[in-house]
Amino acid sequence: MSGTPVTNLNTGRKMPLLGMGTAAFPLAATELVESSIVTAIELGYRHFDTASVYETEASLGRAISEAIRRGLIGSRDELFVTSKLWCGYAHPDFVLQGLHESLKDLGLGYVDLYLIHFPACLKRTQKSFLVNKDNLLPLDVKGTWAAMEECQRLGLARSIGVSNFSCKKLTGLLAHATIPPAVNQVEMHPLWQQRKLRECCTEKGIHVSAYSPLGGKECLWGSSAVMDSVELKDIAQAKGKSIAQVCLRWAFEQGVSFLPKSFNKDRLKENMEIFDWKLSEEELQKISQLPQQRFFTGEKFVSEDGLFKSVADIWDGEV
Ligand code: A2P
Repeated sequence: MSGTPVTNLNTGRKMPLLGMGTAAFPLAATELVESSIVTAIELGYRHFDTASVYETEASLGRAISEAIRRGLIGSRDELFVTSKLWCGYAHPDFVLQGLHESLKDLGLGYVDLYLIHFPACLKRTQKSFLVNKDNLLPLDVKGTWAAMEECQRLGLARSIGVSNFSCKKLTGLLAHATIPPAVNQVEMHPLWQQRKLRECCTEKGIHVSAYSPLGGKECLWGSSAVMDSVELKDIAQAKGKSIAQVCLRWAFEQGVSFLPKSFNKDRLKENMEIFDWKLSEEELQKISQLPQQRFFTGEKFVSEDGLFKSVADIWDGEV
């Protein structure tokens, strides 16, 4: 895992801080996803983020085989691969099946990191991102986490963690955990800086990973507000960098890992060129003052008689 900087997770495993995101909605053509991942490996990316619900696991698996075939990497062990358990599989007796299905699609014997994708449960039939509210069920955190721990014990996931968990939900999970989560993957960019949640995760020894570090403009939940920010543009121009690079450098300087998605060679390259320069105190100060707004609200998980009666319930007030 040479090349870009790495962090040590609480499992003792190393994770490259820069990862390539692979979520796009509407879905991208599988050939494009696959060739972009091979290009990324060629450029030096060693960390890839997928999920069953992104429908990019099979493309990632094929790209890894192709990269090995071309000699770009010696073996799969040189990569860090994350996937996620969708809510339709977040039933204690269905977690292992979810992971087995992901491994089959990926064509791998293990993932480096397996995350509970969202703190909710859906009926087993619900496999897509388009949530039908009638299928919402309360999440059995204790039982589901115990099954995640089993995935780690079996060696099918080298580390386990969560995504979209508030500090309160993490505290609830830790009350039952034998193995604490290694990672909490959450929305994070200059317009949603997650200061409180990051403090909470630091206290608990949980690494924070930033999804949509450029604002996720192409995803269902995203916005172009980050890439259109006048303040970020001013900083980028003064530094001779792009807005994307300022966002990623900022994330790096916060000590989190970050998962920009790009299926374009020039932008994949640009997103790596952030490790040999710094933001000044004054620039960091300006970024810290930007107005804050969560883009992914999780509204589709809210229902009158369900677990979350409002968006505030999902994030426990961290909105
Ligand atoms: P593309 O795949 O065409 O490069 P996020 O990681 O926050 O979800 O943002 C991903 C979006 O940002 C995608 O639309 C991606 O498009 C675009 N993107 C990725 N890198 C850059 C960059 N360096 N400059 C401009 N847009 C970028």
